[in-house]
Amino acid sequence: MNRPYIICHMVMSIDGKVTGDFLFDYGCKKATEIYYDINRKLKADGFICGRITMEGSFTGGYYPELAEYETIKSKEDFVPEELSGFYAVAFDPKGKLGWKSDKITDPDGDPGYDGAQIIEVLTEQADERYLGYLQTLKIPYIFAGKTVIDVKLALEKLKNIIGCKTLLLEGGSIINGTFQRADAIDELSLVVAPKIADKADKPLFTDSTISDFELVKAENTDGNLILNYKRKSDREDLL
Ligand SMILES: NC(=O)c1ccc[n+]([C@@H]2O[C@H](COP(=O)([O-])OP(=O)(O)OC[C@H]3O[C@@H](n4cnc5c(N)ncnc54)[C@H](OP(=O)(O)O)[C@@H]3O)[C@@H](O)[C@H]2O)c1
Repeated sequence: MNRPYIICHMVMSIDGKVTGDFLFDYGCKKATEIYYDINRKLKADGFICGRITMEGSFTGGYYPELAEYETIKSKEDFVPEELSGFYAVAFDPKGKLGWKSDKITDPDGDPGYDGAQIIEVLTEQADERYLGYLQTLKIPYIFAGKTVIDVKLALEKLKNIIGCKTLLLEGGSIINGTFQRADAIDELSLVVAPKIADKADKPLFTDSTISDFELVKAENTDGNLILNYKRKSDREDLL
């Protein structure tokens, strides 16, 4: 397989939603603890998130003053020699994320996130001064597409250039949907909290298509359902 093995790891509601206030209610606290515990035990080479999730969880909307940075006209990937082996991979097509260093600082020091080296996956839409800003911070970046991120190309580069063997896909709904449509999810690791979400909340996959998985684990932990599915290997289109 010319890409990392992808495990989509998410907390969801009974009605299959993954965004919104229900995630922060008391009734979802245990599910979240289980989620982070599984995240640590999976010991992947890192995690992938969409731009909106990265902003909500880590950058908080900060954005640098781009005028201060060099213009980099070349659309070549930038991968410094010092790679850590543990990555926070941001799918950020237009280069909207403002980082303050090249590593994640988790407020709780959670080893599933803390210290992860940031990798930016961009399209050619990203501002040339944003490239200068990333280079100043020594944040590696790879290009995958002109205006829309080509998931297949991004994953090939993450394997062949960065060396990722297994990555967690950790939301949100939009990025999960792009991976699902690209047939790039090998495993689902779901923690179902005993809650129904609001009608405005988004599903596990935005704009999904039909695909088959096999249930390999279903476990009840304190009223939360832990589900593990693997991509079905006997699908006719894969034979
Ligand atoms: N339940 C859980 O376990 C869990 C886990 C993580 C996050 N979440 C929740 O998920 C929510 C955010 O999810 P979301 O669905 O709104 O956004 P998202 O999936 O986090 O990010 C979507 C953004 O990613 C960028 N993107 C990267 N590659 C793309 C592609 N190939 N196609 C389209 N867009 C691409 C786009 O950024 P641009 O807009 O810059 O183009 C897009 O708007 C948050 O509320 C968070 O709390 C839940």
